[in-house]
Amino acid sequence: MFYEEGLIEEVRSRNDIVDVINGYVSLKKRGNSFVACCPFHHEKTPSFNVSRERQMYHCFGCGVGGNVFTFIMEHENLSFPEAVQMLAERAGVKLPEQGRPEEDRRQADIRMRIKEMNRMAAGYFHYLLKTDHGRTAMEYLKKRGLTDETIRQFGLGYSDKYRDDLYRHLRNKGCRDEELKLSGLIRYDEKQGASDQFWNRVMFPIIDVNNRVIGFGGRVMGDGKPKYINTQDTPVFDKSRNLYGLNLAKKSRREGIIFCEGYMDVISMHQAGFDNAVASLGTALTVGQVNLVKRYAEQVYLAYDSDDAGTKAALRALEIMKEFELPARVISLKPYKDPDELIQAEGREEMEKRIRDAVSGIMFEIGILASKHDQRDPQERTAFQREAAEKLSGIEDPLERGNYVTSVAEQYGIREEILREAVTRYGLAGTGRRVSAPAPRESGSGESRETKERRQLKAERLLITWMIRENALFDKLEGILTEDDFYEPVYHEIVSGLFAQYREEGRVEPAAIMDRFQSREEHEVVSGIMQQEFDMEITPEEKSKAVTDLVRSIRMKSIQHQLELAQGDLEKTGRLMLDKAGIGRLKIVFG
Ligand code: UTP
Ligand code: MN
Repeated sequence: MFYEEGLIEEVRSRNDIVDVINGYVSLKKRGNSFVACCPFHHEKTPSFNVSRERQMYHCFGCGVGGNVFTFIMEHENLSFPEAVQMLAERAGVKLPEQGRPEEDRRQADIRMRIKEMNRMAAGYFHYLLKTDHGRTAMEYLKKRGLTDETIRQFGLGYSDKYRDDLYRHLRNKGCRDEELKLSGLIRYDEKQGASDQFWNRVMFPIIDVNNRVIGFGGRVMGDGKPKYINTQDTPVFDKSRNLYGLNLAKKSRREGIIFCEGYMDVISMHQAGFDNAVASLGTALTVGQVNLVKRYAEQVYLAYDSDDAGTKAALRALEIMKEFELPARVISLKPYKDPDELIQAEGREEMEKRIRDAVSGIMFEIGILASKHDQRDPQERTAFQREAAEKLSGIEDPLERGNYVTSVAEQYGIREEILREAVTRYGLAGTGRRVSAPAPRESGSGESRETKERRQLKAERLLITWMIRENALFDKLEGILTEDDFYEPVYHEIVSGLFAQYREEGRVEPAAIMDRFQSREEHEVVSGIMQQEFDMEITPEEKSKAVTDLVRSIRMKSIQHQLELAQGDLEKTGRLMLDKAGIGRLKIVFG
């Protein structure tokens, strides 16, 4: 922990979780908690729960959860100390600077400096574009149809012909060699010394969702190679987690997000009014990018190049979208190569029409299958229909499946009943393509296969749930069970926190326990336990029996474990044997 614990606690208590989360997703009151559609995965019915009482959130759909810090870490993509800082600021709590270890601070400073240098560089490139030096570049952009307004909006620029023009500029602005080395803007060579990474190129600054310049793409004017050079990975530039244009697209009022392949495509699209276009940064779409987009859109469109490479990339992108349950439609650009060319040739109306006519991911995939088979040859046609039926059988929702069967039958001239029958048959055969439903969290049927260890963990987890629900339990457990009886380290940590809180304050505050853990994985585990609800009404007798069983089982396991460790120590062994014999007499009674 980088700040003293009391301070973290204060920051947390001054930021009510319901208020904070409500700033990101709109919460509705339901019973004792607040619900919404989960901002971390796509869903139509809300399974994201926020409890004001516990100051925690948990999604029963995808399993994420935690306290207000976890939420900010996840949602803003921040580290724990950064999340604390942000919330401290929000609540007007002053944090001492010296609380942070040097290294951590140094890293943050470096990242800030790189962003500053990038901004200076972007400003300089943009300035050059408008001078005499940048005349060819400006003519190039104008020839490609860009307006002054677009050039300004995207901060386009020009890097000069001299080998160290930017280097000298940044040195004059007070940048030091060590920091320039890390920025990706300057190269160092033993013999030649420092030189610029980008020469004589049209410059595209890459701006993240917080409006910081994190890197650049630079294009040759004309046909030189390589066509584009991009900033290599730096402490602020991670290609796989950013998207070109998302800083603007996230504010768009248009429906969904349109994925293109290139910088110029994004710019052309925006200029034509499609300000929800983005592009991945010269690589295939990544999971991190889709995850990022999911925060801003419920629907995506793919406007990938119409060549083979673009089609392949689209098919792969569709797989990722499916994984994230993000509905995707594919825009056909034929006969044009990319969105930019289509807009240049046909104008915005045509693009609008293409977006309207975009086909769902599955229809696109089936179209690709169709194009691989000669439909006039009966054998080929059968092969196609088989593959299509198999694909359709993978659609979970029966209504949706039915509709697609109808569409495919119509479009490819297949008798609908026959296609339907084939789809059903493939579905039953379970080709393995069907997306399986998530396993129920507390499945009773798998019980027999559960190893002893897992049963033990479950007992520990359930008892923690009881402790949180029934604070009266703490007194009853006195002298019977302590945190040391909990085998699983995370549970041990939780219980020792709960006992300490109860001892000091006479009540427990689950969200404060969370601060003992720092990884997101741990936060998920902990929040999962703490948000567990028992729906049923239960009599005191039933309650007593349930808790007594749990305590006995945990205690038994704990004694056995200690017995193994105590081998040879006769006195200890004797004491443990007595304890073990007494387990049957342990009783927790609720009145
Ligand atoms: P394209 O070759 O399709 O270029 O590459 P484009 O965007 O249509 O550019 P123009 O219209 O010819 O100017 C698509 C994207 O792939 C990356 C860039 O991000 C580019 O925008 N790329 C391409 C590179 O990073 N390096 C390259 O050499 C080529
Ligand atoms: Mn292009």
